[in-house]
Amino acid sequence: MAEELTPMDRSTGHAIPLRNTPERYGIVAQTLHWLIAALVTVQFVFGVKAASLPLSLERLILLARHKSLGLTLFALVILRLAWRMYSSPPPQPSQAPLRTAARLSHGLLYALLLAMPIVGWLLSSASSLTVSWFGLFSLPNLVTPDRRLAHWMLLTHQTMAWLLLTVVVIHIGAAFWHHFILKDNVLTRMLPFTRRGRRSGRPP
Ligand code: HEM
Ligand code: HEM
Repeated sequence: MAEELTPMDRSTGHAIPLRNTPERYGIVAQTLHWLIAALVTVQFVFGVKAASLPLSLERLILLARHKSLGLTLFALVILRLAWRMYSSPPPQPSQAPLRTAARLSHGLLYALLLAMPIVGWLLSSASSLTVSWFGLFSLPNLVTPDRRLAHWMLLTHQTMAWLLLTVVVIHIGAAFWHHFILKDNVLTRMLPFTRRGRRSGRPP
């Protein structure tokens, strides 16, 4: 019989809660996760497109959007970490080595999501380009114009971007591996519905 999808959490029989529970991520953590994932994708598209363009109005507009969205992303990641401290995530279901791998990869994702906007801000400051948030306010320049520093910050920003892409691909692969091979609830507990018959994410 086909598995049934419902907007309810079948483990409790109630609507998905705001806060995380030992069984699943709550609505706040889920919303922040998927919003950040969408923004990171847009950041890649804007960043790579801008980098491929010669100096032009189109490049400046794309970069301005890239910077504004990057700052928004930075704020959302801080909010997400604060929420994580307030409401603990469900425990990892895997055995010790895999549990450590999940913790390390999530830690690396958070570190890159926090470091990339700071390096981007340093890159813009060193290139004497002011960073503004959708034209509403400007951030102070972190350093005086410095071509050598700008060069190193660009290399760092690019390297971090490709490292982030690699970790995200592994992360998505791991989510599908849990879902299709291990058949546990690791993926569904990050989704706003639950599948009947999935093993709980509680550690053994
Ligand atoms: C998590 C957030 C961010 C991600 C994932 C990201 C990603 C990228 C990527 C993939 C590129 C293209 C690299 C290349 O192929 O050359 C790029 C370029 C760039 N990023 Fe970001 N970025 C982020 C945040 C920011 C922020 C907040 C700023 C500035 C405040 C910024 C400033 C720049 C600049 C100036 C470039 C263009 C470099 C050039 O001159 O070619 N980035 N970014
Ligand atoms: C740029 C894209 C993404 C980023 C930056 C990202 C980042 C993260 C982070 C940092 C966590 C840890 C949550 C915590 O406990 O604090 C997480 C969890 C999770 N992500 Fe993503 N994610 C992305 C895309 C995706 C996609 C596309 C999927 C599904 C195919 C996915 C599935 C999951 C799942 C299932 C969890 C929960 C893992 C668990 O319960 O241990 N993520 N993600």
